[in-house]
Amino acid sequence: MKLYLDTGDTGAVREAMALGVIDGVTTNPSLVASTDDSYRTVIANLADLVDGPLFVQVLADDVEGMVEEAHGYQQWADDIVVKIPATREGFEALGRLRETGVRAGTTVLFSVEQAVLAAKNDATFVAPYVGRLDDAGSDGVGTVKRIQTIYDTYGFETEVLAASIRNTTQAVALYEAGVDAVTMSPSVLDDHIPHPGTDEGVAGFEADWGDRGSPLTE
Ligand code: E4P
Repeated sequence: MKLYLDTGDTGAVREAMALGVIDGVTTNPSLVASTDDSYRTVIANLADLVDGPLFVQVLADDVEGMVEEAHGYQQWADDIVVKIPATREGFEALGRLRETGVRAGTTVLFSVEQAVLAAKNDATFVAPYVGRLDDAGSDGVGTVKRIQTIYDTYGFETEVLAASIRNTTQAVALYEAGVDAVTMSPSVLDDHIPHPGTDEGVAGFEADWGDRGSPLTE
């Protein structure tokens, strides 16, 4: 199971990498635009920090433009996976890129049907948008489960990378479903850590230890 961080913020990536649980970073044009730097600078800076794949999304909406951007991104860092929206042009560009061995997959994905087309094109991953599906009154986690079941049934190797996660409740439901990968914002990752029982337990151990000093002291 993979955990990715969904951000363009290098500070957040540095903090999350220090936890030792992050397998890579996903970005999108909105996240990159929220920084003051160029697309290439943001990706190059992230690549310096990330031990694992860095997912970078195309901006073009025509096939040639998507393919050209995908090849350009490959020059920016070693471990780039290209994100292509689930449009007609996107599926065509995906097929072309996968035929030439470029790692690329389908993002902004909202349906099982789109996920089947992506897998047929040998997508490296699909990114169903769980939070946005729920926002639209649909069932985000349910959609991910159906995709995962179909992939398992047919033996597709495309990674199911659940995206647009709004909270830890969605994340836990995805873990229970056995999803291949989840990408989340730094704040949702941070929300995995605190628990009142942990705070209370630690305070109790400190109080009982009192003024005995370092445990390494003989
Ligand atoms: C996926 O890779 C996207 O970057 C992201 O998860 C979109 O999430 P949002 O709905 O929070 O924008």
